[in-house]
Amino acid sequence: MSHLASQSPTSPSTSPASAMTADAIQAAATTSSAALSFLPDDQVRYPQADEEGYFGGFGGRYVPETVIPALQELEAGFSDAVSDPAFVGHLDGLLRDYVGRPSPLYRADRLAAASGLGAVYLKREDLNHTGAHKINNALGQCLLAQRMGKNRVIAETGAGQHGVATATAAALLGMECAVYMGTEDIKRQALNVYKMRLLGAEVVPVSDGGGTLANAVTAALRAWVACVEETFYVMGSAVGPHPYPSIVRHFQSVIGEEMIASIEHDPDVPFPDAVVACVGGGSNAIGTFAPFVAHCDRAHLPLLIGAEAAGLGVDSGKTGASITKGTPGVLHGFYSYLLQDEIGNPLEAYSISAGLDYPGVGPEHAYYHDQGIVRYVPVTDDEALEAFLLCTRSEGIIPAIESAHALAVLPALGRELGSGAVVFLTVSGRGDKDMDIVRERHLGE
Ligand SMILES: Cc1ncc(COP(=O)(O)O)c(C=O)c1O
Repeated sequence: MSHLASQSPTSPSTSPASAMTADAIQAAATTSSAALSFLPDDQVRYPQADEEGYFGGFGGRYVPETVIPALQELEAGFSDAVSDPAFVGHLDGLLRDYVGRPSPLYRADRLAAASGLGAVYLKREDLNHTGAHKINNALGQCLLAQRMGKNRVIAETGAGQHGVATATAAALLGMECAVYMGTEDIKRQALNVYKMRLLGAEVVPVSDGGGTLANAVTAALRAWVACVEETFYVMGSAVGPHPYPSIVRHFQSVIGEEMIASIEHDPDVPFPDAVVACVGGGSNAIGTFAPFVAHCDRAHLPLLIGAEAAGLGVDSGKTGASITKGTPGVLHGFYSYLLQDEIGNPLEAYSISAGLDYPGVGPEHAYYHDQGIVRYVPVTDDEALEAFLLCTRSEGIIPAIESAHALAVLPALGRELGSGAVVFLTVSGRGDKDMDIVRERHLGE
């Protein structure tokens, strides 16, 4: 595959990165399809955070001294686990038989025609067990927790998908689980709250601030600091202090690795002109983009597009577009683009989608933005709802409202790239959790 590189990918690390040759990719993909699913191969060099956890100046560890040993222990435990074939094999088996991976790459012809594109391939993370990409990472981190001797996990959640995924993994592995969730999100995502409780998790309501995701993360991090010895924090997105962004990226990179394997193995699947994903904290997007960055040389990268939540509009004061409207600052233990006031207090983010209304974004995305590797575009609530309906009616696939933000980019891509263009798009989750929201708005009536 000529577009898959034999040169170094862009890397912020000081160590030289080396990508695989196309033949080596083919060989590795063949090996992994026989025994494993598509967790990142350690022969393929992803952009690496430096020793202090920075991707080109973004990231780091802005946490109390008392938490540093736990993060160091986590870093060592993670690195040990991912190089142990027993751990990789266990996770891989669960990804295949429990989650249902690899997820299909479905050619959505009616959606492509409606968007003025040649072909649109939907990466169906919505078909995963529990209905979203979050389970890829939650399972990985819960297995890691157990391996590190911690049988209690805590997590934060916005849309409830990461909470449900963590509660599910905890039930499967016989672990104790507490999930912190903003009171506003508890109202918006009542079904997922019920599911978490059914699964045996404690849902801890957080009423601080706007009662949304950012407040839940703050409360969960605070709770973790008090019980760091025996409790593992399962971070739900590619955010937080180092090494969390790298850990989450690793477990979510199955998404892009599988896309690349489809290109390699299925002669009917072309190399894409563009790859699109929605960006909240950024986990499904980094899991989609980073494998392309790792496998392709810069000149042959597809156009990578991250759709962030504009809310009511980027200048309305009710937005979640942290890259478009943010400036660099510190939140939840890491340095990245952040919606903040003039003295550095995080602003309340807003989006119709509970999973995207976060005022920050993962540090690797900030780096990709500054390097021009990924284009980040804001999508309003109304544009997302229009795309939600189009996908539902043209393909019979009801997406999560988060994923609808990515779908909303398609018509503009059709105009920009033309009717021959091929686009891959990650459908990060299914829309079941959003039925009350769309019903209240009488969507489609
Ligand atoms: C279905 C779905 N997609 C996307 C997101 C956004 O998260 P991330 O940017 O980490 O993928 C969420 C968050 O809850 C989600 O539930």
